[in-house]
Amino acid sequence: MSTPTRLLLVNGPNLNLLGTREPEVYGDATLADVEALVERTAAEASYEVRSVQSNHEGVLIDAIHAGRDDCAGIVINPGALTHTSIALRDALLAARLPVVEVHLSNVHRREPFRHHSYVSDIAEAVVVGAGVDGYAFAVQQLVRVLG
Ligand code: DQA
Repeated sequence: MSTPTRLLLVNGPNLNLLGTREPEVYGDATLADVEALVERTAAEASYEVRSVQSNHEGVLIDAIHAGRDDCAGIVINPGALTHTSIALRDALLAARLPVVEVHLSNVHRREPFRHHSYVSDIAEAVVVGAGVDGYAFAVQQLVRVLG
């Protein structure tokens, strides 16, 4: 099988509401803006992108499993599942693909329950608090890791 030239972008619960959800925390950009930015950034390195957003943990897990076959790496903002989901962590481990975790907000400046992530210690890099630009940084880091 040839090396995949596709990245998987995974956005978790409530991120479909970007642009209208707590804009003082998450900004004005929409999910479509985020996905377009990721596509543009990935294209600069000749990668295409498959984007998935779901409010359902199992859908995200299925998408990660599918990514094993035809994606080179994963950029993920798991939303609140960051702080709760061992199942999502296990799916990422099973995929055996490099992962970069991104959060729009600086989770470390927020409530204590947002300080722990089930993903960070298995991620190549973590980008927090850079807003939408963080997704572009995440893609750049993933591309760097993929060499
Ligand atoms: C978030 C931070 C999480 O704590 C929160 O549950 C989200 C968004 C972020 O991008 O800042 O849904 O992942």
